[in-house]
Amino acid sequence: MRRYLVACADDRLFVTVWITFSMPFDFDISLDRRHTGSLKWDKYKGRDILPMWVADMDFLSPPAVVEALRARAGNGVFGYTVPSEAAVQAALDYLRARHRYTARAEWLVWSHGLVPALNIALRAYAAPGESVLTCTPVYPPFLSAPANQERRLIAVPLRLNGARWEFDWPALEAAIAPDTRVFLLCSPHNPVGRVWSAEELRQVAEFCARHALVLVSDEIHCDLVLDEADEADHTVTATLSPEIEARTVTMMAPSKTYNLPGLSCAYCVISDPKLREKFERAAWGLITEVNAFGYEGLVAAYRQGEPWRRELLAYLRGNRDYLYDFVHSNLPVLKLAPMAATYLAWLDARGLEVERPAQFFEDAGVGLSEGAWFGEAGRGFLRLNFGCPRATLAEALRRMAAAVRRV
Ligand SMILES: Cc1ncc(COP(=O)(O)O)c(C=O)c1O
Repeated sequence: MRRYLVACADDRLFVTVWITFSMPFDFDISLDRRHTGSLKWDKYKGRDILPMWVADMDFLSPPAVVEALRARAGNGVFGYTVPSEAAVQAALDYLRARHRYTARAEWLVWSHGLVPALNIALRAYAAPGESVLTCTPVYPPFLSAPANQERRLIAVPLRLNGARWEFDWPALEAAIAPDTRVFLLCSPHNPVGRVWSAEELRQVAEFCARHALVLVSDEIHCDLVLDEADEADHTVTATLSPEIEARTVTMMAPSKTYNLPGLSCAYCVISDPKLREKFERAAWGLITEVNAFGYEGLVAAYRQGEPWRRELLAYLRGNRDYLYDFVHSNLPVLKLAPMAATYLAWLDARGLEVERPAQFFEDAGVGLSEGAWFGEAGRGFLRLNFGCPRATLAEALRRMAAAVRRV
């Protein structure tokens, strides 16, 4: 059941009518996010630039989440909050039911975000000066965490095999150093949109075992798989075998899927007691209590959010297909490899032959992420966030096509 606010005005009267009727969730609603302290929208405050950058969607969160937060606010007491039994159980049930991962309550380490958790993991598993391996282009905090923590980054580009992004095994073997301690894996991969197959993940795990690396597997996008085939679904790395699980730190959060990043609630699943203890020790004083509303949002999203998620995926699939068609027909200078997950498209803009393609489109009223932020391998690319009403996407693409036509 959805409720819509309909405002009708005539000369003398302003009538507000609430209409309650049954219909699917509406992802076409245009939201005014100005004046809400939105990172995404405030970047271009006062300028006519459509923000299509940071991974945050212009959709209302599931009604069940909104109701749960309202109920929690009604309680009126906001003291320090530990993980509730409800949150722990919701996370465990979700992992088992959706991802066939049977974890235990004591394996969960909660955090106000996965970016802090990535940084903590480097402090926990590599000494200052030791190296950390990742595959680029990749979510920028994977690249800044080693520098933040005075660890050395080894960035190995993924390779484009035809239209498919893959790990470059010879390059990985050549790049690894005797002091490499951690492999930072993004699965599914932001920004190239690959859902790594179980076989590819096995290869990653086997590589980590051979080189005695801790495998930090950031799986925040795992519920945003757009491909519908069963075999295309996400595999949680740690479920591949007990040996793999024992060297893996799985990073999870409901924030990307249910559009809750402002609630600051994430968790790591660490089955090995020694790895867990190292992580917890490294987190002392840095990760403190999680926001009370974060737990409430997680419980509501995991327990009641599935119908909303299914409709979200259908809507995102529509946006992705619209984007494919538009780029193919009207922006052929941009290349877009097929993507299987996330609402973040990775566009090859090298054909444009401009030094900073994001700046080029920003000047035309569209705020994209510059590919070079994702590592050297991303130079000349752009990331476009299509987690928005289709009308916004259409307008952004129209502006982009007009800008390209002008040159
Ligand atoms: C791969 C990946 N990890 C982590 C995050 C952010 O996590 P958090 O908001 O929990 O710090 C993002 C956000 O886009 C992401 O894409």
